[in-house]
Amino acid sequence: MEPLLTIKDLTAGFATDNGAVKAIDRVSLSIGKGQTLCLVGESGSGKSVTSLAIMRLLEFAGGRILEGSIRLAGNELTDQTQRQMIRIRGNQMAMIFQEPMSALNPVFTVGDQIAESIRLHQRKRKSEAKQMAVDLLRMVGIPDPETRARQYPHELSGGMCQRVVIAIALACRPELLIADEPTTALDVTVQAQLLDLLQQLQRELGMSMLLITHDMGVAARMADQIAVMYAGVVVETGSVEALFDQPAHPYTVGLMQSVPSMEGERLSELRTIQGHVPSLHALPAGCRFHPRCPHAMPRCTSEAPPMMTVGTLQQAACWLYGDVAAGFAGAPDSDNGEAGG
Ligand SMILES: Nc1ncnc2c1ncn2[C@@H]1O[C@H](COP(=O)(O)OP(=O)(O)O)[C@@H](O)[C@H]1O
Ligand SMILES: [Mg+2]
Repeated sequence: MEPLLTIKDLTAGFATDNGAVKAIDRVSLSIGKGQTLCLVGESGSGKSVTSLAIMRLLEFAGGRILEGSIRLAGNELTDQTQRQMIRIRGNQMAMIFQEPMSALNPVFTVGDQIAESIRLHQRKRKSEAKQMAVDLLRMVGIPDPETRARQYPHELSGGMCQRVVIAIALACRPELLIADEPTTALDVTVQAQLLDLLQQLQRELGMSMLLITHDMGVAARMADQIAVMYAGVVVETGSVEALFDQPAHPYTVGLMQSVPSMEGERLSELRTIQGHVPSLHALPAGCRFHPRCPHAMPRCTSEAPPMMTVGTLQQAACWLYGDVAAGFAGAPDSDNGEAGG
């Protein structure tokens, strides 16, 4: 079966004072129907740019898609006009962001805001939309939804506001929900409740989800598939089991051993890996990770490794797996193609 979302060689970037930069470079991903793909990586690795590109919202953030394909349910999104995208965003995909407060309008009641977004995309009478808003509030686990619907965002806690944001996103029954660090701004208990809610709603509605997180604990809990990004490129993909059992890329290994800090978006220093994500203006030649890699070889400094199969349904862009995967000369007289898996 064709995946719901297939991204191929997606390249996107920004014009800056110091010249054009590619924030993501030939990113390829896919998400099956009803599946969750977690996109992980340190701050600055290109996760948000990827999600904004998929939504075709990158233009509004000053960026641009330069190359590649984004297919959603058979539709090529890079070919759509913004007018067509409004329809697609209202019907097939929706996005929630990290900061619930900034996503809500402080001067309207939460009920009115949900009803308004329903009426934007569906032909409903006002009273009907209001009732649907209450039902949606109930669906996202807000107690006494009739009363809550009449309240303003500032009367609700951060966790409640994020539930409202989720209700708005789900109003159009999207096939794909993109959630960019949806719980990062919230405390741990509320975070856990919201993740449970997302998982439950996903099952009920049969949605696919692209969940962006820098927290490997969240990824372990939520993901079917994981894609690891580093400095604008995908360095490893695979099932959650494969990645946690046998992380292949040295960067993934480092991520697994790192602990998210309490200060929100930023990962604490990777315990086992020195250094920082490079600036887009000074990307290293070859593998972008080689300056920080404990296994770097001469080849890594000059040749960018392509994605290579390292196990069942697991791929890594790393020369450690090059010889095995491609059966290149240099693999010591091995006729066992499975050696890496
Ligand atoms: N509006 C912008 N103008 C220029 N560069 C940007 C802009 N937004 C993001 N970037 C750059 O793109 C890269 C990826 O950013 P982002 O996708 O936000 O990372 P992540 O979400 O993984 O933390 C970063 O180097 C960031 O500085
Ligand atoms: Mg981000």
